[in-house]
Amino acid sequence: MKIVGVSGGSGSGKTTFARLLNRILTERFGAGYSTILAQDNYYIDQSAKFRGDGDPAVNFDHPSSIDFPLLAAHLQKLKKNNAIDVPVYDFVTHTREKRTLHLAPHPIVIVDGMLLLSQTIIIQELDYSVFVEAPEAVRFQRRLERDVRERGRTPEGVEKQFRAQVKPMHDRFIEPSKKNGSQVVSGLVDFAPIVDLLIVSIGY
Ligand SMILES: Nc1ncnc2c1ncn2[C@@H]1O[C@H](COP(=O)(O)OP(=O)(O)O)[C@@H](O)[C@H]1O
Ligand SMILES: [Mg+2]
Repeated sequence: MKIVGVSGGSGSGKTTFARLLNRILTERFGAGYSTILAQDNYYIDQSAKFRGDGDPAVNFDHPSSIDFPLLAAHLQKLKKNNAIDVPVYDFVTHTREKRTLHLAPHPIVIVDGMLLLSQTIIIQELDYSVFVEAPEAVRFQRRLERDVRERGRTPEGVEKQFRAQVKPMHDRFIEPSKKNGSQVVSGLVDFAPIVDLLIVSIGY
């Protein structure tokens, strides 16, 4: 079994890349061959102390907001051919839900997350990884559109959080982690040919 990490800043195109990779693997090797595991599911519940967008008491972009030890343990479990119970996080209420998602082991697991390559315990579990990069202005614009549309946020709140937390944490943790990836990919181009080459790179 192989674990492929897809990392990069918020709005860089990670999820788009991960989904395309998953779709092409599924088309070639059949349903159930690959699956996506998202870092976003591993947010620690901080609803008790969260007071609103840009609240300095809660920084969702800092690595300490993510339960990386649990994610690492889950990757190890999948490698041993065991199923895992993935936590579910609600972005509107900032809470971890009571239900979990049962995920069976797959020959290829794609992990999608912006801080994966900043964490030694995660890097150790990855067989291959890509860092998707895009300029800050592009990442901000994409994130603004997504958070307003899908996460019930206001444009003002998104902008405030970007300035106070997303940008500083990107510059401090994400950008320097680029060097830890097997490959850097531009988030501004068509991913299809890159995905084709990646599938060869991981030995298929
Ligand atoms: N290579 C690309 N070219 C053009 N638009 C893209 C590309 N990758 C992603 N996008 C667009 O950018 C937005 C954010 O992409 P997404 O994959 O959700 O980013 P991330 O998961 O890194 O936050 C989406 O609207 C997506 O359609
Ligand atoms: Mg994403």
